[in-house]
Amino acid sequence: MNQLATPRRGLLIVFEGLDGAGKTTQLGLLYEYLCQQGQDVVRLREPTEGPWGQKLRQLLLHGRGDVTPDTELEWFLNDRREHVDRCIQPALNRKQIVLLDRYYFSTMAYQGTRGYDPQDIQARNEAFAPPPDLLLLLDLPPEVGWRRLKQRGTPSHFERLGYLEQVAGIFAAMDFPYLRRIPAAQELEAVQSQVRREIQQLLQRHAQIGG
Ligand code: TYD
Repeated sequence: MNQLATPRRGLLIVFEGLDGAGKTTQLGLLYEYLCQQGQDVVRLREPTEGPWGQKLRQLLLHGRGDVTPDTELEWFLNDRREHVDRCIQPALNRKQIVLLDRYYFSTMAYQGTRGYDPQDIQARNEAFAPPPDLLLLLDLPPEVGWRRLKQRGTPSHFERLGYLEQVAGIFAAMDFPYLRRIPAAQELEAVQSQVRREIQQLLQRHAQIGG
């Protein structure tokens, strides 16, 4: 395979999809590949390990309790604002390739099921969060995701089938110039090949002149 081009600026590549779609595995494989290719790459994820992210993980583990939809949305926005300021934007400024496991498309899809307009959530995020250069949406029928989650153990409070179906509906309606859908029910290797093809094209488009 040809050597990958070096990008002339930082690139933000986001992985999204339902729980069980294999984002984290695919992102990890891509990370290894890009490192082997000598690319300057960093991997990040949301919710983060920061104070807001930790509060959110408590919700995932123990259920929403009396946390209102407004508060939940506020926590996701706070977590992301900190993440953009402290990690994402500095890495992009250093011209790194940022591989991000979930971003504001998750907020649109998951919190969008709780009575908010997904486009409104998008606008609130884009007030401070840079849009990605590439959004890889791992497409999986909710029943398949649900089965995978049950095989892994007890699904979290955000992973019930009816909820996943609603989330999937919002993901399905998304339409952005930087969005690529990848069928995720196929073999892991087939998904990874498609992911790499998208990355090669992206790097080609952003190749350093003479690089
Ligand atoms: P997930 O990627 O499953 O994290 P991990 O693999 O570390 O457990 O994300 C955790 C959950 O958080 C997932 O069910 C989706 C939810 N989530 C939202 O509801 N809104 C958001 O904005 C984000 C980033 C995640």
